[in-house]
Amino acid sequence: MPALSSAATGQQALLSDGQSPLRPAGPVAEGIAQMSWVLIAGASAVFLIVMLCVAAALWRRRAGPGTQPAPPTDTAAARRATRWWIVGAGTVFPLLVLVPLLLYAYTRTQALTLPQRGEGLVITVEAELWWWRIRYRDAAGGLEVVSANQIHLPVGRPVTLALLSDNVIHSFWVPALAGKVDMVPGRLHHLRLQASQPGVFRGQCAEFCGAQHARMALHVVAQPPEDFDRWLRAQAAPANTPRGGLALRGLAVFNERRCNACHSVRGLDTGAPGATLGPDLTHLAGRLHLGAGTLPFNGATLAAWIADPQHAKPGVRMPSYPLDAASMQALVAFLEQLR
Ligand code: CUA
Repeated sequence: MPALSSAATGQQALLSDGQSPLRPAGPVAEGIAQMSWVLIAGASAVFLIVMLCVAAALWRRRAGPGTQPAPPTDTAAARRATRWWIVGAGTVFPLLVLVPLLLYAYTRTQALTLPQRGEGLVITVEAELWWWRIRYRDAAGGLEVVSANQIHLPVGRPVTLALLSDNVIHSFWVPALAGKVDMVPGRLHHLRLQASQPGVFRGQCAEFCGAQHARMALHVVAQPPEDFDRWLRAQAAPANTPRGGLALRGLAVFNERRCNACHSVRGLDTGAPGATLGPDLTHLAGRLHLGAGTLPFNGATLAAWIADPQHAKPGVRMPSYPLDAASMQALVAFLEQLR
């Protein structure tokens, strides 16, 4: 899906409606949508019956005592009727409706969170404050690929996500593809996921986790399997060596201004390998957004983000870097080459 790498498409993806559980784009989400409709139908039927009973009671009352004989209050028939309403409508009816719905929903949701057995891609997602660290294991080379805020999936292949957090509780939710699962410190949760069509699907942290919970978004890019394999191989490769004087100067700015204290760029001499506080930037320019879905990725937003990330995302851990124009231009040129 080469078209997705352009900034213009990034903007488009930001605006696309890829975040609705009622528009499922994979079998797991389809199961959830189906379950939702069954539960909505059940709840609507019960609501309708109750409203009909209320209407009937109001109608009888409005008809008034003059138009109908007063109901007998102490006959055997009246007592039987009262018992029927209490036992039948108050106990038997709810049991008949709610128990099957509960069992149905329980068995369906159990099947959604079980880790799948056998072959299949496993992607680790770690919730940070307030972004997502994504780890792939390249099956061929065994090399670990680290990325951020954008999960790539092969269309039609089942994927298991291993969900982790080492700070507070977050919740992983990409409504068009799967259900919502909490990410709890000290626990490993699994989520099955499968896309049945290519596209970009937005996800969102669904558990309040601090100041920038609302700007803790992520995007899932579902690609044809051969595109995905190519993408993963490219991700496993080290970063591009800066081409041209401007980009080389940009790498120097990156190191001088200590961007390297938080961000890794695998394969380049940043003077501080293995920094993991911030997102890995090895293939930064292949991402559609900046700041966990906060801004579309392009040169202008990149410069604005570096100069003052607190403006776009107040409270973000990254400090502001008000660089002079020449240094900023060089730094952005360097970062834009990290495809
Ligand atoms: Cu992370 Cu809300």
